[in-house]
Amino acid sequence: MSNIAIVGAGHVGVVYAAGLAELGHRVRVVDVSLKRVAMLRSGRIWFYEPGLPELLARGLARRRIEFTTSYERGLAKARFVFVCVPTPTTAAGSLDDSYLRAALTSIRQNTKPPWPVVVNKSTVPVGTGDVAARLFEGEDMHVVSNPEFLAEGRAVEDFFHPSRIVIGSRNRIAGEAVAALYAPLRAPVVHTDPVTAEFSKLAANAFLATKVSFANVLSRIGESVGADGDGLAKALSLDPRIGAGHLRAGLGFGGSCLPKDLAAVEQLARRYTESSGLFAAVAAVNRAQRARIVDLLVDRFGTVQDRRIAILGATFKANTDDLRDSPALGLACQLAELHASVNVYDPVAAPQLRALAPQLVLFRSALAAVRGADAVVVATEWPEFATIDLLAVRRAMRGSLLVDARGLFDVEAAHRAGLDYFSFSTAGVRPHEAEEPLEAVAS
Ligand SMILES: NC(=O)c1ccc[n+]([C@@H]2O[C@H](COP(=O)([O-])OP(=O)(O)OC[C@H]3O[C@@H](n4cnc5c(N)ncnc54)[C@H](O)[C@@H]3O)[C@@H](O)[C@H]2O)c1
Repeated sequence: MSNIAIVGAGHVGVVYAAGLAELGHRVRVVDVSLKRVAMLRSGRIWFYEPGLPELLARGLARRRIEFTTSYERGLAKARFVFVCVPTPTTAAGSLDDSYLRAALTSIRQNTKPPWPVVVNKSTVPVGTGDVAARLFEGEDMHVVSNPEFLAEGRAVEDFFHPSRIVIGSRNRIAGEAVAALYAPLRAPVVHTDPVTAEFSKLAANAFLATKVSFANVLSRIGESVGADGDGLAKALSLDPRIGAGHLRAGLGFGGSCLPKDLAAVEQLARRYTESSGLFAAVAAVNRAQRARIVDLLVDRFGTVQDRRIAILGATFKANTDDLRDSPALGLACQLAELHASVNVYDPVAAPQLRALAPQLVLFRSALAAVRGADAVVVATEWPEFATIDLLAVRRAMRGSLLVDARGLFDVEAAHRAGLDYFSFSTAGVRPHEAEEPLEAVAS
């Protein structure tokens, strides 16, 4: 069992701390945020991730995990240093590696022989591994690129059952030492160089984003030619060359990874090829999905001004409280800008929403949020929405339009409840079904 340091106590770092402790390692986690470290020491996680509190509690109870703001303490005795700091997108669309540079500098200042292996899990600009290795040149200290593929909302499951482990190292012994840490997980391991490892992460997310936009374009064509989106997705997904994931039409992708990694690949394509249009189109299709909902509501009501729109779900997907680049939140804010009165219910993200978007009116339940609404938009696929009583929804609403932007409901069930129904896979509502203006409704 090894002493492992983790730098960055976030969505990746805490999962790795708890997961590696479960595998028997002793882990020290360093973060610059005193507040986060204080919370984590008492077993409270500053973000929502199913199964993680229990796993962390086990590691803390066994005294295998420690959180600190001190690099000196965190890195003392470490054989491996996992780097899990943020790499947000810059205004120009590339990856901001300033947190990574700061972390590597602190690691450099706080390590001494016997040198640990630095394992980079942050998603970085292609070539960063070699730049980082130069920082430690002269010492017998190796940097291994080990990109992370876990998905929020299922991160614990992904830690213990990864689809693959990618190890990019210029030093065979260092690469194999990192691979040995993962041996109990019995996952396929790809040994390669750092550049290929880094690019494989960006490429995976660019592909997933492309698949989502592909499905969304097909659903639009399907709407026009009368093809059923769900049937189409099923028929495609059974082809093993295509696969099932990320094929459902919906409000589009978001979160902290897909949009920024797609933008980074688009930048690379622009610099080195004539094919950046491919990725630009993927991003444009994604933006258009939100715009389609706004257009649908405007077509329906003439204007959304003073209309009450209930948005169910604000996070970028279910089982996370992550609001970064969330299409659901983006849609809610856009409707508020158009002077709609926007009711929002999200099962876990209310505290962050209150600070981030005070213009939205927050509710404690879906039924409370839809009360008096002219239209309801299901914007995140939280499982609790799929079991909602549609008759109760219809009775609570003022209007009758249900926009199922995540494809949760059956069109027949919605119609039986007296709802006008739209989803990206089933064109149920047409602009000619426009409602009367508000004044007429009131009189
Ligand atoms: N979130 C995901 O689902 C996911 C999946 C795969 C890869 N990634 C990549 O992993 C990296 C980390 O992402 P995340 O979502 O865990 O980030 P995060 O924002 O959730 O957490 C990062 C943590 O690092 C800390 N930090 C920042 N600078 C630091 C420094 N110099 N020293 C110590 N701590 C520092 C922050 O305080 C924060 O707690 C990113 O590059 C991301 O692209 C994320």
